Amino acid sequence: MRKFFKKALKKFDKLGKDQIRDLLEDLSAENELLEVVLNSMTDGILVTDTTNRLIFHNRRSERLVPFSPGELEDSIIWEVVDDTDIADFIEQALLNAEKVNEEEFTIKIRGITKTLWLDIMPVVRDGSIQGNLFHVSDITERKKRDGRLRRAENLASLTTLAAGVAHEIKNPLGSIGIHIQLMQKSLRRDHILKEETAGKYLEILNEEVERLNNIIVDFLFAVRPMNPIMQKSDINKVISDLLEFVKFEMEEASVTIDCDFKQDLPKVDIDEKYIKQALLNIIKNSVAAMPDGGVIYFKTVEDEDLIHIYICDTGIGISEGNMSKIFEPYFTTKQFGSGLGLTVVYKIIKEHGGDIIIESVEGEGTTFTINLPVPQSDKRLLDWKG
Ligand SMILES: Nc1ncnc2c1ncn2[C@@H]1O[C@H](COP(=O)(O)OP(=O)(O)O)[C@@H](O)[C@H]1O
Ligand SMILES: [Mg+2]
Repeated sequence: MRKFFKKALKKFDKLGKDQIRDLLEDLSAENELLEVVLNSMTDGILVTDTTNRLIFHNRRSERLVPFSPGELEDSIIWEVVDDTDIADFIEQALLNAEKVNEEEFTIKIRGITKTLWLDIMPVVRDGSIQGNLFHVSDITERKKRDGRLRRAENLASLTTLAAGVAHEIKNPLGSIGIHIQLMQKSLRRDHILKEETAGKYLEILNEEVERLNNIIVDFLFAVRPMNPIMQKSDINKVISDLLEFVKFEMEEASVTIDCDFKQDLPKVDIDEKYIKQALLNIIKNSVAAMPDGGVIYFKTVEDEDLIHIYICDTGIGISEGNMSKIFEPYFTTKQFGSGLGLTVVYKIIKEHGGDIIIESVEGEGTTFTINLPVPQSDKRLLDWKG
């Protein structure tokens, strides 16, 4: 259409009265269409010229931008915005010719609080700046929705954890109750509690209290924010140290350890104490998955910006149905499992900016892959001598 008008303009002198009228009618129809489109938009659109005067604003913008009463067209835009924060921001951005992207404002219009996003971009025609385009969107609902989602997620995980704790403490509490009742019964019958009987009951009570304590300690570890102290470490050495520490336990369980360490790995920023805890939890699970013994294979690999640590076992594997649950707090298939081991592993690895992947084949074994980021400054230079 625009090409057609340009062509018509070139031949303007030769056009007859009727042709000019047709041309003007077409032009006005096109203009009307543009206006209808812009006025139907749910976002605010405003345009200023090179002197920062408002030359266009759509209907929606009047509901989103707090304008002062009076004439808007041809006014300096920041002088007609009735909100000091927004007005000052726009003035600064325009005077410094800054592009603005999703700047967030909270305003109160007719008693309702709204959150707005403002974009400002230059309008360029034939290589020169003709003014600025303002795009205002109302993100109040989206923000509310996001907040609700996040809250719901937090609540959900807290509810699972709390439900888990409630379930976990039921057994030891029940057992404590029963043993106290037994002691009372003995006392009522014999008026005395023999040392042997009392000792037996007290030992059980002690064990149950210890179990309760562990549940709470594990729970707190799972929900509390950690405070890792990162230090540059050689991951191969961290693994070797840990394996030295569990050597005897492995021998007892008839588990052989096999290592394939990539030499000269770049150092990673970790809190050794936590990473050892995570690796230990994984090793313990592997040992438990190999009741008749087997092999745990450790491998480290460097891959661009990551270090991969593979831990493979030849255990019973994990069923497909359980695969998605094993990181959930309190999920366990063991009679006396806490179900928190992998929850803690996950938390530790995430805290290190890493990732954890599992692959498993039932009856064959399981592989855990931990990916840890290599600090960029530590990436060795490529061999530039070629
Ligand atoms: N290496 C493994 N082989 C087979 N199953 C595993 C392995 N690691 C974890 N699992 C499964 O994941 C579950 C959750 O593990 P975890 O969170 O450490 O809790 P727990 O060891 O107390 O059961 C285990 O009960 C087990 O079913
Ligand atoms: Mg475990």
